[in-house]
Amino acid sequence: MTNKYIFLLLGGLLSAICAFQKGIPPVGETGGLDAKVDSLLALMTLDEKIGQMTLFTSDWDVTGPTLREGYKDDIRAGKTGAIFNAHTAAYNHELQRIAVEETRLGIPLLFGYDVIHGYKTIFPVSLGEAASWDMEAIEKSARVAAEEATAAGLHWTFAPMVDIARDPRWGRISEGAGEDVFYGKKVAAARVKGFQGGDLSAANTLLACAKHYAAYGAVQAGRDYHTVDISERVLRETYLPPFKAAVDAGVGSFMTSFNELNGVPATGNKHLLTDILRNEWHFKGFVVTDYTSINEMVPHGIAADEKAAGELALKAGVDMDMQGAVFYNFLKKSIAEGKVSVEQVDVAVRRILKIKYELGLFDDPYRYGDPELEKKVILSAAHLEAARDVARKSFVLLKNQDRTLPLSKGLKTVAVIGPLADSKKDLLGSWHAAGNAEDCVTLLAGLREKLGAASTVLFAEGCKTLGRSKDGFAEAVNAAKRADAVILAVGETRGLSGEAASRSMIGLPGVQLDLVKELVAICRQADKPLAVVLMNGRPLAIPWLAENAPAILETWFAGTQGGHAIADVLFGDYNPSGKLPATFPRNVGQVPIYYCMKNTGRPMDPKNKYTSKYLDVPNSPQFPFGFGLSYTSFDYSPVLVDKTVFGRNDKLKVSVRVTNSGSYDGEEVVQLYVRDLVGSVTRPVRELKGFEKIFLKKGETREVEFTLRAEDLAFYTRDMSFKAEAGDFEIFVGGNSDAENSAKVELR
Ligand code: NOJ
Repeated sequence: MTNKYIFLLLGGLLSAICAFQKGIPPVGETGGLDAKVDSLLALMTLDEKIGQMTLFTSDWDVTGPTLREGYKDDIRAGKTGAIFNAHTAAYNHELQRIAVEETRLGIPLLFGYDVIHGYKTIFPVSLGEAASWDMEAIEKSARVAAEEATAAGLHWTFAPMVDIARDPRWGRISEGAGEDVFYGKKVAAARVKGFQGGDLSAANTLLACAKHYAAYGAVQAGRDYHTVDISERVLRETYLPPFKAAVDAGVGSFMTSFNELNGVPATGNKHLLTDILRNEWHFKGFVVTDYTSINEMVPHGIAADEKAAGELALKAGVDMDMQGAVFYNFLKKSIAEGKVSVEQVDVAVRRILKIKYELGLFDDPYRYGDPELEKKVILSAAHLEAARDVARKSFVLLKNQDRTLPLSKGLKTVAVIGPLADSKKDLLGSWHAAGNAEDCVTLLAGLREKLGAASTVLFAEGCKTLGRSKDGFAEAVNAAKRADAVILAVGETRGLSGEAASRSMIGLPGVQLDLVKELVAICRQADKPLAVVLMNGRPLAIPWLAENAPAILETWFAGTQGGHAIADVLFGDYNPSGKLPATFPRNVGQVPIYYCMKNTGRPMDPKNKYTSKYLDVPNSPQFPFGFGLSYTSFDYSPVLVDKTVFGRNDKLKVSVRVTNSGSYDGEEVVQLYVRDLVGSVTRPVRELKGFEKIFLKKGETREVEFTLRAEDLAFYTRDMSFKAEAGDFEIFVGGNSDAENSAKVELR
């Protein structure tokens, strides 16, 4: 036995003895989990209970507007049961030691962190990952994040973010899976599975947290933290399903959102937190607030002071207060005044303790941090390879005129231009946890490695991403003139998306477009290939680029291995297969624009003035949901259905034959959409109801079959009952949400 294992064994034994002395029922003792939790609860003072309902940030990372001094004293006093923004095995071990050895009951701390798209090995931002349409890849990314984060002493991640987002002005669109409900449900489940694995008590699994509950993505005008006012139907049909999917996948915690919903802030919203989450969905985990969101109910104007806000939150169904210190400061007083009861506190504490038991923390409070494992797994070769693979899969080829891409590896001189071409830190995107810019491979570095000594790679920054100066243009033009091909990396800085990063204009910032225009003109004149590589955290409005750039590859913020992954795609070592998880508008005035809109009573007719349209821009987006090109082409056979009339208990089989008709092997995401032609309430023009990502060798044909049942066509009908209505449906199958290939069926 190695020293380390002897140490761990002794450590485990010691903590078990400690726990026993303090009266905590150890795991394995007879009696169910509930009985153990109850007997521990019986030992606790009210202060200790309130401590378990309190989550404070450490000073290791800043993810919100307030910091507190003295969190270690709070741990020591048993006044906080959970800490976030503290990580590394060594540091968390030290904090845990204080909790276990220096508090009266020795209840272990729970350590949380925003491990959103990687802990140190950073994967593409979540929206980018979602563009892969590859559930295995998405699950793998969460798994890798969990392996690294748990080795670094973490138990809990504030992910997945499952907010449906249909407004690209909202910077947090980059944190989720995009605009679609069906797709969002699948991604939510894959992420929960990846983080939590099959066994929460395993030392390499991370408690997940579905956030931000609910409807945060519907903030008015895309401005972060803003008001949400939507119908119950829209709430249930669009914003809630991914949360329900997370519950079904076994997620252990939920986070409330900052926004108000129809007049009641989510953090004080009993309808959301109790009626739906507990009574309808039977969620058994605990609910944490977002950062100081109890306190924020005062400026929201629904509570006169923080004490009242705390009462509202507890009564609504909140179990844990993130960073606001409202329960910490006022809950005891509220109980003394009879505003809330000890029983209500007990309910919350029980839920939290239960998860701590399930994580195995009472068994061994140090189970999750291991300095040796930390060294071994973090940034391991396997993790870097996984990050590169997921990154490649996340890229979306938006345009490829005259087969500009892939570029030939035989090019003598390549010019890499643009403010993002050699930026390490931007590759990390928002919420990059412990990810370091120094570990990132930039596009320039990736290309240099790919092309080796046989090619000369020139680099010119051209301009800053956000700057106004054009002083660097001349150098960029010079590089472009000397090169055989130009690769232009433009987009947003990483800080332009994520929390508190809404934009009212969503084009290329600064003078980047001017730079692109100059270089496109030069390359056009010299008949030289030019490819634009976009790096950004949201759908952009890029009408000029869409019209004039020969090739556009959307790479989001691609993570630690971004540069290698982009080089793989630009030079044909990987054939792009990503599809947009959110619509790209032509201009910001079209927002909100998403594929599953309603038809209106006057659907757009270009010949008729009095129809629903703009005078200055088409209704159609620049690039629709589900869109993405490949270096090869795919042909679809007509849609076949095994019956044109089907009943409530039938399975309807829908199939197409897909042929790779181009000259590269490649992957296609075959998508199935449905239109319910007449309903008791109006239905969207299309809804995604199935997809499959397939690999086809060039020349290969494969049949793809989907099964639809009546329940797949259910919706909230006029009386709000959830069911499918009899009638006619149109089914579309193709490579994006505009697919015209269709068949008609009737549900009886
Ligand atoms: C606020 C953000 O809204 C949330 O997503 C995050 O998990 C917390 N801060 C903690 O950092």
